[in-house]
Amino acid sequence: MAYKHFEFIEKHAWSLGIATAIMVSLGGLAEITPLFIEANKLQPTADMKPYDPLRLAGRDVYVREGCYLCHTQMVRTLRFETQRYGAYSTASESAYDRPHQWGSKRTGPDLARVGGKYSDDWQRVHLLDPREVVPESNMPSYRWLALSLVDGQDVQARMRVLRKLGDPYTDEDIKSAPKAVAGRTELDALVAYLQGLGVDNVPKPAAPASAASGAGGKS
Ligand code: HEC
Repeated sequence: MAYKHFEFIEKHAWSLGIATAIMVSLGGLAEITPLFIEANKLQPTADMKPYDPLRLAGRDVYVREGCYLCHTQMVRTLRFETQRYGAYSTASESAYDRPHQWGSKRTGPDLARVGGKYSDDWQRVHLLDPREVVPESNMPSYRWLALSLVDGQDVQARMRVLRKLGDPYTDEDIKSAPKAVAGRTELDALVAYLQGLGVDNVPKPAAPASAASGAGGKS
């Protein structure tokens, strides 16, 4: 009877250890294997392009300044979210984001669809002094962003690394990067990045998104 085997396992610590390891591995496999199969959902679709040099630089400023500590870039599939922010986020939208900026804390609003919601000028003023345009805002001011220029060589180096990781930058893209960011400040770059969110690289929804009203709804 199977009961004999249980008795053996219970009386011999080494066999209990092995049996436990087998069971935990099976549980782990059941959790992890689907994620590998789902990994293809993270592939960029054909109409998606990697970040242009200025937006790439802006993305780095976003990460460096820790904007993700107060802002998510992940609209969930809940009606009150899609009504407020627009179409819910999909995994492949972040295919060119390393690391992704989904975030997990919303002190401020989600930014996944903020591109085009305000003018460039609004974004600039808001980043330099949020209370200038939103008196009750508790977002910090980022005045120094207007003072430093984007380093073209640095952007080039980043693009080379990203190409190694699979982003389809051409030699020409990389060669012309310093020219594309010449004379632009970190503020310019961050505004360009924000204005692309939810505008660039948003794959056409596969299934009809019922409550999705698109980007730009005032909230
Ligand atoms: C301490 C938390 C905090 C940090 C850090 C922070 N924000 Fe905010 N942000 C807010 C809050 C709160 C609001 C809502 C009030 C307002 O509009 O200022 C906001 C609003 C915004 C908005 C307007 C969104 C909308 O839909 O109206 C943008 C764009 C934005 N933040 C960008 C940034 C960027 C870029 C950074 C990093 C440089 C950043 N924030 C850092 C708290 C923060």
